Amino acid sequence: MTKYQELRQHLPAQQERWLITGVAGFIGSNLLEALLKLGQRVTGLDNFVTGHQHNLDQVRQAVGEAAWSNFSFIEGDICDPAACAQACAEVDYVLHQAALGSVSRSLEDPVRTNNSNVNGFLNMLVAARDAKVKRFVFAASSSTYGDHPGLPKVEDIIGKPLSPYAVTKYVNELYADVFGRCYGMQTIGLRYFNVFGPRQDPHGAYAAVIPQWVTAMIRNEPLRINGDGKTSRDFCFIDNVVQANLLAAKSGADAANQIYNIALNDRTDLNQLYEMMRGLLLDKFPHLQNHAPTYVGFRAGDIRDSQADITKARTLLGYEPSHRIQEGLQQAMQWYVSHLAPAR
Ligand SMILES: NC(=O)c1ccc[n+]([C@@H]2O[C@H](COP(=O)([O-])OP(=O)(O)OC[C@H]3O[C@@H](n4cnc5c(N)ncnc54)[C@H](O)[C@@H]3O)[C@@H](O)[C@H]2O)c1
Repeated sequence: MTKYQELRQHLPAQQERWLITGVAGFIGSNLLEALLKLGQRVTGLDNFVTGHQHNLDQVRQAVGEAAWSNFSFIEGDICDPAACAQACAEVDYVLHQAALGSVSRSLEDPVRTNNSNVNGFLNMLVAARDAKVKRFVFAASSSTYGDHPGLPKVEDIIGKPLSPYAVTKYVNELYADVFGRCYGMQTIGLRYFNVFGPRQDPHGAYAAVIPQWVTAMIRNEPLRINGDGKTSRDFCFIDNVVQANLLAAKSGADAANQIYNIALNDRTDLNQLYEMMRGLLLDKFPHLQNHAPTYVGFRAGDIRDSQADITKARTLLGYEPSHRIQEGLQQAMQWYVSHLAPAR
């Protein structure tokens, strides 16, 4: 039995309170669904800047009314210290996901990104410290590896950040470390690598590649690949990220005050990703037989290749990814097919 299977078996017997910030977003709403299904009590904080009420509605439908009654929602901004304090009250574990994602958005509006991702983060740390939470787990990012060319990426070896977003995520790690040293807080930063899965937003200028492409494929619209298609990523299905968060919250003190890579230690380039997705959708959408991508310029702030060494998470957290990319893509494609209305 894996450590995660063990944890899932024991959790329902012990009801504790979890705070998920960014609960109406992609990763936050998946964490919410998992925790409510495990009988936990959850407080959620979100200002709906990129999250959606329909994500919360879907969780409610998935877990049923009894489990849903264990959830309380606060509409608020992490830039407001009072909202952070209110959200942290009586909480055992914080899973801090709220932030403005996207490298491109941060290049266009670095001040706004900094406000949420650095000022908001610091507010959350202070509130969690004052509420004496047991563990503060937060969403860090593979963008922290910046311009370092080494592969696979190992936690201690990073380069210079390539975007304002990457700066904010690195600053989070520094603040968390300092709060461990100065105030005795237990924090864990999870460096996510290109997460995908149900409820990842397909709309808007800053949509991630998989939801953007699946929309274009289903609707038979033009699909653009940035660069030559050889750019590669360690695409990580959402269930693996949920697993990492729960393990991080409940791991022993020896695993705390550390940063962990969360992905697969795998690498898929954009051309391969396109073909995998097309293959999974072809049955339902025969027009994809003749579909082809258009290649456009490389994106600013993008790194060429990314792949995580996950030895540290395996060893100290007991993290064992349950979904390889193909299995994850299959589930994600099914979800998008049933949730994306065809264009008229
Ligand atoms: N998705 C990925 O591939 C990926 C990779 C690395 C890191 N991350 C990090 O994971 C976290 C979650 O990302 P996601 O993909 O679910 O994005 P998302 O945009 O779907 O979710 C973020 C949520 O945070 C909320 N939020 C943002 N700013 C807020 C604020 N100031 N106050 C309150 N709520 C606020 C949004 O409304 C949204 O619901 C983020 O911290 C992101 O930087 C994601």
